[in-house]
Amino acid sequence: MANGRVDSRRQRINNVNSESEIHKRKNDHLALAGSPACQMNSSNGLETVLFEPVALPELNFAEIDTRVQFVNKPLSFPFLISSMSGGVREADKMNTTLAEAAEACQVALGLGSMRIALEKKSARTSFKLRSIAPTIPILANIGGTQLIQRNGTCDALRCIELAEADGIYVHLNALQELLQPGGDTDWRGVSAAIKELVAESPVPVFVKEVGHGISASSAKILIDLGVSWIDVAGTGGTSWSQIEHTRSGVRGTSAFAEWGVKTREAIEAIRGNGNSCKLVGSGGLRNGLDVAKVIRIGADIGAAAQPFLEPARTSVDKTIQVIKSWEKDLKIAMFCTGSKNLTELKIAKLLSG
Ligand SMILES: Cc1cc2nc3c(=O)[nH]c(=O)nc-3n(C[C@H](O)[C@H](O)[C@H](O)COP(=O)(O)O)c2cc1C
Repeated sequence: MANGRVDSRRQRINNVNSESEIHKRKNDHLALAGSPACQMNSSNGLETVLFEPVALPELNFAEIDTRVQFVNKPLSFPFLISSMSGGVREADKMNTTLAEAAEACQVALGLGSMRIALEKKSARTSFKLRSIAPTIPILANIGGTQLIQRNGTCDALRCIELAEADGIYVHLNALQELLQPGGDTDWRGVSAAIKELVAESPVPVFVKEVGHGISASSAKILIDLGVSWIDVAGTGGTSWSQIEHTRSGVRGTSAFAEWGVKTREAIEAIRGNGNSCKLVGSGGLRNGLDVAKVIRIGADIGAAAQPFLEPARTSVDKTIQVIKSWEKDLKIAMFCTGSKNLTELKIAKLLSG
């Protein structure tokens, strides 16, 4: 009995420690992700995707049609704000701002990792955005290694319920976990856990990296596990290894700062293998022309995180302004390639190179 009390006190202390560690980690991530030093130096490869300009488009710009269905809901253009945060004070406001702006612009919204919401009731507010964003696709988020904890699948299902989500992202961030103090280093069983989640989930399961890319061979494994959507989250944008390296107090550049597969190469290699899985093209997308490029080379929808961090901290109006500018870039790219809709954009001519 006495031992039981000591154990449960110890458990409470451990929980408090892990909660405050998660808080600190999330705040550090928000602070560092906006810094240019944590963006990769190498590109995502999209600068070499060059559309052939069409001098005589014979189109009315006002009639360019960018609308698309995504997880059975309409989007004004094929775009998803990638998973960022939640569960800490700053993220509460950010998520509300992102949800309001995404709803106003009719784009999809990915939530940040919901692990904190499973561990702490008060952290759940950040992820309950349905009243603010009643019509858009919202995607819940859980880490691959959370799925191999005792209640892994149940936890994932709770995340879906909590967020009233249209899909759930499982993020695979093995490199980040290894570089993160106290990160998860035992990844055995994650594949089987994803398969179990696919079987149990009432909504589509998405699997993403966090900026180091999903290769064609990893994609093949995920497709065989029954995953509905793969988000390549390739290199060329935010470097999570550099963020963790900086957090750990070591100066300079992480040996793994540029680790991974470029966004362009990941999309082309997955499509080149003849896979017809659904693809999110992300990793270093920085404007709507990049969205046009990932759609052209085989993605079904484009996504980005870091460019929306600062707007989300500023205001709903600013966030709407940025989303609208991405939509306009996409429409300009479509007009100037003579593509009146996304089907035509997918076969727009490219310059060789
Ligand atoms: C501040 C911040 C927090 C992030 N947190 C998460 C997260 O909790 N879960 C996740 O799956 N990805 C997370 N990511 C990764 C992004 O979803 C995205 O995959 C990655 O940043 C690459 O896209 P980007 O180059 O457009 O930033 C985060 C990114 C940023 C910038």
